[in-house]
Amino acid sequence: MEKQKLIINGGNQLQGEITVQGAKNSSLPLLSATVLVCEGECVLHNCPRLTDVDYAMRILSCIGVKCRREGSTVITDASAVNNNEIPQSLMREMRSSIVFLGAMLGRLNSCKLSFPGGCELGPRPIDLHLSALREMGAVITEQHGYLLCSAPRGLHGADISLSFPSVGATENIMLAAVRAKGITQIHNAAREPEICDLAKFLTACGAKVHGAGTDIIIVEGVERLSATEHTVISDRIVAATYLAAVGCCKGELILSGVQSAYLGQIIPLMQSMGCRIYSFGRDSVYIRVKDRLKAPPTIRTMPYPGFPTDAQALLMTATATAQGTTVFVENIFENRYRHVSELARMGAKIKVEGKVAVVEGVPTLYGSELQATDLRGGAALVLAALAAEGRSVVTRLCYIDRGYENIEAVLRTVGADIRRV
Ligand code: UD1
Repeated sequence: MEKQKLIINGGNQLQGEITVQGAKNSSLPLLSATVLVCEGECVLHNCPRLTDVDYAMRILSCIGVKCRREGSTVITDASAVNNNEIPQSLMREMRSSIVFLGAMLGRLNSCKLSFPGGCELGPRPIDLHLSALREMGAVITEQHGYLLCSAPRGLHGADISLSFPSVGATENIMLAAVRAKGITQIHNAAREPEICDLAKFLTACGAKVHGAGTDIIIVEGVERLSATEHTVISDRIVAATYLAAVGCCKGELILSGVQSAYLGQIIPLMQSMGCRIYSFGRDSVYIRVKDRLKAPPTIRTMPYPGFPTDAQALLMTATATAQGTTVFVENIFENRYRHVSELARMGAKIKVEGKVAVVEGVPTLYGSELQATDLRGGAALVLAALAAEGRSVVTRLCYIDRGYENIEAVLRTVGADIRRV
């Protein structure tokens, strides 16, 4: 796996149609939520084939959830959950496995998992997750890198104020709260579309969740949840990736299976850069780019509905060859400019200082040997290589495969010269 690479000959315009995959960041909390359903089979449609989803399914199997995939549908049966421990090897593979904490506590009243630690985006603390669960009655101790969690008298509702609208913490609290005793209020909750998708699934299972999508979520605990069928929302960051790809390479693309309302910061920004974009029909977006893009002055990442941090690297590639200068301000993660040194090898002019990056657009990027540095940074390098003059080789594809289903096959169908060897 590690030896695989993408060989990309840049310069082709993109033309055609792409169906956007289901959202990774919805699939993971949804799979975790199925742990709370004690009877029957949950059916999740539009669950993308990604290594992160595979890890989540392995965690489910490990704790006793029967779990199988049929095409893009994943079916789970948590009636025989029998293990409250996630081994370190699985926790290490995927930092977002912390989203199993709330569901396991809610179902089993105890769990043991290793501390997820840092990741390629810098330290990713979980203090907000832990203090919220403690307010709900959990006793959590740390022992030799393991988190030992229990709720000896069961979890109870609480009034929780998050100091930052953390996506993962909001999800963990919701998962812990749906079967807790009483009412939980989450103030300053994350408002991401994936939170709404989780609320929709939990509600279909019989949970009482109100306010998802606003900054106050109220969960009224219920005794039991019943199995349901649900379709995962489309991946807005993957949609943004293919929009940015046309921005970099020019051409004309239709994206289908897209909830364009979730691209509220991306579409207007790209329109201001000179892309012609409109949504049509139930779930399609059209984009056409004929000329060199114009650089937008500033892009600041913010919690939803602000500009998503996950799209920062992708738009940075688009601005690297735009006319003018763009200032990026990364407000969410400390270490999210690792793709910059790779883009610089291709001729991009980018200066980074702390959370600010200044990108001075150049007319041409040149093919190079590139290493993916993280999931979205890796995708940004693929876009740069597609737009560049000459041949590029991208390695460390394990990062890209965490979030993109068959990226090279998808791009090839719209005219890119890209292959995996
Ligand atoms: C989720 C997404 C990720 C996205 C991020 C921000 C998933 C699986 N991942 O990650 O793709 O980039 O939202 O939109 O959905 N923080 C703390 N303490 C905590 C929790 C978070 O300080 O207990 C900080 C983090 O270090 C980070 C910021 O809050 O600086 C945002 O983190 P959070 O919203 O929790 O992101 P994730 O849920 O990890």
